[in-house]
Amino acid sequence: MFLSQLYLRNFRNYNHEHLSFNQDLNLIIGANAQGKTNLLEAIYLLGTGSSHRTNIDSELIKWNEDKFYLKGELIKDNQKYQLEINSKGRSKEIKVNSNKLQRVSDLVGYLNIVIFSPEDLNLVKGSPSRRRKFINLEISQVSSYYKHLLTEYRKVLKQRNNLLKEIRDNNTPQHMLQVWDQQLVDLGSKIIKRRLEALDKLSILSKLMQRKITDGKETLILKYDTKLQLTSDSKEEIKEKFSQSLKKYRRQEIEHGVTKIGPHRDDISLLVNDINIRKFGSQGQQRTTALAIKLAELEFMKAEIGEYPLLLLDDVFSELDNQRQIQLLQNIQNKIQTFITTTHLDYRQSFDKEYKFFKIKSGSVTEG
Ligand SMILES: Nc1ncnc2c1ncn2[C@@H]1O[C@H](COP(=O)(O)OP(=O)(O)OP(=O)(O)O)[C@@H](O)[C@H]1O
Ligand SMILES: [Mg+2]
Repeated sequence: MFLSQLYLRNFRNYNHEHLSFNQDLNLIIGANAQGKTNLLEAIYLLGTGSSHRTNIDSELIKWNEDKFYLKGELIKDNQKYQLEINSKGRSKEIKVNSNKLQRVSDLVGYLNIVIFSPEDLNLVKGSPSRRRKFINLEISQVSSYYKHLLTEYRKVLKQRNNLLKEIRDNNTPQHMLQVWDQQLVDLGSKIIKRRLEALDKLSILSKLMQRKITDGKETLILKYDTKLQLTSDSKEEIKEKFSQSLKKYRRQEIEHGVTKIGPHRDDISLLVNDINIRKFGSQGQQRTTALAIKLAELEFMKAEIGEYPLLLLDDVFSELDNQRQIQLLQNIQNKIQTFITTTHLDYRQSFDKEYKFFKIKSGSVTEG
């Protein structure tokens, strides 16, 4: 799949711009604060329906304007798809081939994207929520059902937390929890099950990538980290252990007024040669791990949907040393449409394939 064209109107610092992309490689060059990341954000939005930087859509509208519009042309299996997003901030209208979608999650499955930016080091170094976000985004891009499960789970979680506080503060009877517990366990188990399956695959792929980048010196393992003490990934066991744990933590949960068990509290452990890389890894090892996971993401999506996604590299290329740059380039060679943003061009020689390049200045683009 590749994005052949992009049109932006009143998006971030863009007024209106129309771009035609190369099928393989696109270099986006400009000084700081000119609109490079904004351009990638627009592409990401067309793929996933939301920004990788903010949950607040109104931030995406150009200042002093009241709406933005994005249109992309996607080529996939020799077919053209037109993706459109019209947003007034609170309300967002998404269309595929001029047909309005009922839900944002209906956008899943058209344009798949892997984005790699300096913040991705936080995937390794950051808090559990960063890794949960990663696994959620990853699976959501290949399964609209999962995306739907997450939305429902969050609703139930919110209601349940409210009730826990009411029980604590107003002596509301505890048996009222039953109905929410059941829904929490039902939805939560499905989420955990899907995460375990995805992580199994991602772990194998990440391990391969890490070995490649480090010449076989480092073995990376991704492990799902949950309080449920699972011995298998069977649906029944997850459900049962989830229910048991809720009972076990009931008193604490009421005391604190929050749900302490469930996929919203889980994490992913990253082990390199059996050592927790988050706590004990060197900066270089953490970088390698982040890169290995990103490369694994590409292969994961390929395996799930039968095609490589687009790869957006925001400012990371110049941050990688030679060895890692070569690994990255070898892995994307002629099979993945790639967008690379950078402030300068010194490594241009290392691209031995055709590319297009775009200069960006204050939200204006010129093809170079
Ligand atoms: N809603 C908006 N309306 C107008 N301008 C905006 C809006 N949101 C962000 N900007 C501006 O867009 C500019 C470019 O942002 P962007 O993040 O794309 O820069 P960049 O080229 O990636 O820079 P860097 O190299 O520092 O990462 C920023 O100066 C920011 O103030
Ligand atoms: Mg940027």
